[in-house]
Amino acid sequence: MKQVKVVLTEEEIPRQWYNILADLPTPMSPPLHPGTGQPLGPDDMAAIFPMNLIEQEMCPDRWVDIPEGVMEKYLLWRPTPLCRAYNFEKLLDAPVKIYYKNEGYSPAGSHKPNTAVAQAYYNKVFGIKKISTETGAGQWGSALSMACQMFGIECRVFMVRVSYDQKPYRRLMMQTWGAQCFPSPSDQTETGRKILAENPDSPGSLGIAISEAIEDMIGDENARYSLGSVLNHVLLHQTIVGLEAHKQMEKIGEYPDVVIGCAGGGSNFAGLSLPFVRDKIHGKEVAIVAAEPQSCPTMTRGPYAYDFGDLAMTTPLLPMHSLGHDFVPAPIHAGGLRYHGMAPIVSHCVKENLIEARSYNQLDTFDAGVKWARTEGYIPAPETDHAIAAVVEEAMRAKEEGKEKVILFNWSGHGLIDLMSYDAYLSGKLFNYDLPEEVITKAKETVAQYPKP
Ligand SMILES: Cc1ncc(COP(=O)(O)O)c(C=O)c1O
Repeated sequence: MKQVKVVLTEEEIPRQWYNILADLPTPMSPPLHPGTGQPLGPDDMAAIFPMNLIEQEMCPDRWVDIPEGVMEKYLLWRPTPLCRAYNFEKLLDAPVKIYYKNEGYSPAGSHKPNTAVAQAYYNKVFGIKKISTETGAGQWGSALSMACQMFGIECRVFMVRVSYDQKPYRRLMMQTWGAQCFPSPSDQTETGRKILAENPDSPGSLGIAISEAIEDMIGDENARYSLGSVLNHVLLHQTIVGLEAHKQMEKIGEYPDVVIGCAGGGSNFAGLSLPFVRDKIHGKEVAIVAAEPQSCPTMTRGPYAYDFGDLAMTTPLLPMHSLGHDFVPAPIHAGGLRYHGMAPIVSHCVKENLIEARSYNQLDTFDAGVKWARTEGYIPAPETDHAIAAVVEEAMRAKEEGKEKVILFNWSGHGLIDLMSYDAYLSGKLFNYDLPEEVITKAKETVAQYPKP
């Protein structure tokens, strides 16, 4: 009988996260204080994050122990299975083996709880009582709502308006887990009220929602902000995915030729790929591919520069690929990929040619997702469809070249709460969005005001 799933026992789950900062061949540029332009010190972030997470953000150690309190919660759904997609392979009829890490297996339905429970845990240990955050598609907001509930912390979520309207069930998940969820721009903050006064129909963006979430907690010493992607500590927590996958591949004597993930802020992609990037740094031949939307082509077209993580310019200046902090992406259904920036670690690895970025249009991604659902059964999140589109492209390339390939990708989440997007796709109401070159020119002008990384 063919082996479809590779499972680890609970004892085999890695007990440490992997920190790539210890292995990068060239150092990363530091985040900068927006006022002074100087590298950021721990105290500069103390009003926003608890100090134990700030320390982790700047931690130089290669391996970081996963606390027992986090491990206990991870065991609710980890280890996740590594599966071979035999049926999808058959459909593609290409000389490829396709393995996927099923992160849709978590209670919230995506990889997001890997960092949500870790962040809630560290906030709890630090004595924090309330956390504010933003969410795009609602995956992050729901994951953090669940994690906050587990650790007895109040949770307030600012959800990008277009997703709030498209995905009412995500809001209900957050409420079921005890959180409050507001459509962003909202009437809860100065930033939100100002945008609503100018444009009552604003679809919102992650940049706006981040500004609102930060404004919502600032000044309350018992409250902090939490980010679901982009930052070093978030990527660190997500490496549990890649470390498990590495072990699982090893168990069956396989090693990937290509590792693929979709990238919004970069966390699921980095979570799976960074342990393999480490191998690549040490001489292994492996292609690492990040898949992003053509309508929000942060890495494939955005400049590498210092820019703010949010619209109101409240975050530090981060060295990253960016489409400009005031960029409002088209209302594509992959809400979690509608972000103007990219994780500094991922951006740095793109610059160093350790990672390759590719972009896909909305219709091709849904086409890939529907093919997946009709062969493998599981319905992917629209974000995950981008990774699947990259898998299809990679398989077709292997067929053309007549080369055998082992492909590993992150199945970052299920799409059961995203069925309205599939409805729009199946009834011919979805479009591709072209991004005019003027937008890129404007992004370059925006970031030209700041120091160069
Ligand atoms: C299922 C899923 N995949 C991917 C992403 C993109 O985020 P990131 O790039 O941080 O993994 C999201 C974000 O909401 C998501 O919900």
